[in-house]
Amino acid sequence: MSMPLELQCVDCGQKYSVKQILYQCTSCKGLLEVKHDLERLRKLNLKDLFEERWNAKTLPYSSGVWRYKELIFPVNDECIVSRNEGNTNLYKSGKYAQYAGLDNFMLKHEGENPTASFKDRGMTCGVSAARFLEANSVACASTGNTSASMASYAASCGMKALIFIPDGKIAYGKLCQALAYNGKTLQIQGNFDDAMTMVQQVCDQYNIYLLNSINPFRIEGQKAIVFEILQQLDWQVPDWFVMPGGNLGNNSALTKGLRELYEIGIISKIPRVAVIQAEKSNPLYRMWKEKKDFEPHPDPDTIATAIKIGNPVSWKKSLKGIEWCDGVVEQVSEQEIMDAKAMVDGSGIGAEPASCCSVAGARKLREKGVMKKDDVVVGVLTGHLLKDPNATIYYHLDELKDQGITGAFRNPPLQVE
Ligand code: F0G
Repeated sequence: MSMPLELQCVDCGQKYSVKQILYQCTSCKGLLEVKHDLERLRKLNLKDLFEERWNAKTLPYSSGVWRYKELIFPVNDECIVSRNEGNTNLYKSGKYAQYAGLDNFMLKHEGENPTASFKDRGMTCGVSAARFLEANSVACASTGNTSASMASYAASCGMKALIFIPDGKIAYGKLCQALAYNGKTLQIQGNFDDAMTMVQQVCDQYNIYLLNSINPFRIEGQKAIVFEILQQLDWQVPDWFVMPGGNLGNNSALTKGLRELYEIGIISKIPRVAVIQAEKSNPLYRMWKEKKDFEPHPDPDTIATAIKIGNPVSWKKSLKGIEWCDGVVEQVSEQEIMDAKAMVDGSGIGAEPASCCSVAGARKLREKGVMKKDDVVVGVLTGHLLKDPNATIYYHLDELKDQGITGAFRNPPLQVE
């Protein structure tokens, strides 16, 4: 059976078969995206199908990604590598919401995935694509979560995993997973952007399947976050989605998913999307704010190491999506990230620093009047609290002063005999 999908260059429109291993356009180097036949999908009554699958007990439809298979990757079930990802909680309230000044602020906790970050949604699809394309080794550059996820999914189906990470500054919870799942882990002398350049060269040279979000199938799986949120909300569309931005794959996926739902008539309202960057790793924000050409940040830095990225590969896709939904880009300081984190954690929910950009950013956009008090807002928490215990503990011990952060809402342990 032929695949009802194609790959298409986001810049020049050139089309390619999905059976080819390709991440960029061979003529203009633009990124590729998966094109679904939306006319055909429009006729399928997908919403009813997704509702029927909601309580499925077995794979693939019990997965919060494969439940939406037709809109993601309609591959044969034998190719699917799944750990039953997704099905994460959408928290309705907590003190984080008062802190942000919003009456209807929900948090989708993607840290509740099998390897404790949102990456599992893209990875189940990426590793299944690797199988579809008959690859037996996969590789990625990572600030930690992508590598943890890739190593797990590769191990679960007997593939080899090759990982490039920046030397130092990768959170221990993540490094620990990569090693535990037997990923061949190379700590390079350089930052994430250097690792990204290196892994692309190595994949080309040695014919290894690249699983960063430059891979169009990663983006497809990632879209399931928004499908699942909307299904949890009975397909009522919120006013805003707010999420952190690093390599900018996740927000590109979210807007692509929304756009497809809109085009096939499952939703009729377009929500706005806010992408939040750390002040010291903010190339998209600067471009957005100053309305100038994209320029990489030469020396990215932030306590939110997951998004310590200066040259995000998906900036064009991201921008296209933000423009489509009348979205915004905001930045938050190190102090704002960690204080917002204290609120997310203190609500009993908990998340790693990068995730908490969602709450810090919402608070800022509320203060500026961009978001209204009664807007319905969904924030995405991208990773689990335990991914980065050091950041949390040093905040509560008030030992982050050298990074310009005070433990404003600290809860230090008391020494008793
Ligand atoms: N939050 C967390 C916890 C992340 O790990 C990442 C990205 C992001 C947000 C940003 O998402 O890159 O799609 O804009 N982590 C990647 C990694 C880069 O290697 O794990 P993005």
